[in-house]
Amino acid sequence: MIKKIPIEDLNTGMYISGLEKDAPGEMLSFMNSILIKDGAEIDRLKSKGYLSAYIVEDDPQPLPLKTPRMDGPVSSGAETGRPLEKADEPVEPPPVVELRASEAPVPKAAAPAVDYGDFYKELKDAREVRNEAEDLVRGFMQSVRAGEEIETGPVNETVGRMVSSIFRNQDALTSLARLKSFDDYTFAHSVNVCILSLTLGRHMGLSETALHNLGVGAILHDIGKMLVPETILKKPGALSDAEFREMKRHTELGGDILCRTKDITDESRHVTLHHHEKFDGSGYQDSLSGNGIHLFARIASVADVYDAMTSNRVYQKGMLPEVALKKMYLMRGTHFDSELVERLIRSLGIYPIGSFVELSTGELAVVRMPNHEHPLQPRVLIFSSRDKAPYEKPLEVDLKGEIGRWIIAARDPGPQKPVIDRIMAEAEGLSLAS
Ligand SMILES: [Fe+2]
Repeated sequence: MIKKIPIEDLNTGMYISGLEKDAPGEMLSFMNSILIKDGAEIDRLKSKGYLSAYIVEDDPQPLPLKTPRMDGPVSSGAETGRPLEKADEPVEPPPVVELRASEAPVPKAAAPAVDYGDFYKELKDAREVRNEAEDLVRGFMQSVRAGEEIETGPVNETVGRMVSSIFRNQDALTSLARLKSFDDYTFAHSVNVCILSLTLGRHMGLSETALHNLGVGAILHDIGKMLVPETILKKPGALSDAEFREMKRHTELGGDILCRTKDITDESRHVTLHHHEKFDGSGYQDSLSGNGIHLFARIASVADVYDAMTSNRVYQKGMLPEVALKKMYLMRGTHFDSELVERLIRSLGIYPIGSFVELSTGELAVVRMPNHEHPLQPRVLIFSSRDKAPYEKPLEVDLKGEIGRWIIAARDPGPQKPVIDRIMAEAEGLSLAS
């Protein structure tokens, strides 16, 4: 349980997961809680202007599942009575406020050894299951478009493999959510929302069965879009009011499809029907708010928006993960459940896998693997020197063991994106071969 307290109430022995100044969003968020060891540390935080701390009162526990009743067929969709939005994506969020990650204190306690071997070993299976998921989504989306039923057997099988992967290693499958190079946005997005929902659910300590039902709902969350005309679905620009009304029907249509599909739990149906509800009640399909929105739908909502923000679309360039996380942090409590946004930041890290970063040495690198104990010291692939001359072969370095090398900021890869993608792919190939 995370609780916000004034900095004056902070005491030694407390664990903190974040700090905040007076300006909204001017905060630090840590992937893992940090122990306050002495009064000097508290004084230092006060001197830096922090006014509030987020303390962890006990071990993270799953939020209670408060499943609203779903009697008979899923709701046909009440009118929200709210002004229509112009696109099937989040409304433009407030301006970016720096997370100031470079000021994050590094815990002094020795971190447990990280078994990178597990990550590399799991990556091979994770990549296979991701490919399988892409084929699965393409298949059931085409079935729905053709008016056929969804076969739940293959869905359960693939989601089961994804859940098993994330239980074996929490980072391998998650690292593949950065992949966007799929032929159709809706297909790739469905796979990524499933991976990110499982990541978040795993971070919350959900059971294997709960994760499975969450994953099934997440991979099917936009199934209703297959019944929306392609001219609207693939329109390269803003939708008209009438088009957006039609697009919004995908939650109702998806809910109806899942009601006709055998062996789908109500928990999974909630994801499809309610992933566009907002925490403050301003979303659709049924104008639900707060915990009245099923936990799984709240999780999928966070995953849905993060993937949409970080994806290139015909009409917009994808944001850097760091920028998307900052924007989502500012939307906590209104668009999203605050705790879930904070958990997303902690589970992905301030610099998620694949982030292009500049180091204190001036070298350029890409984040290879997060360090959950030391968020600012992940494992990276350094590919250019301080004068930006490319190395012949990228240098894989664990920043945890480095003195004088740390991340100073994320950078937009721009034209270097293909180079970074190649470096990451080659690193995976080398790792898998070893
Ligand atoms: Fe959707």
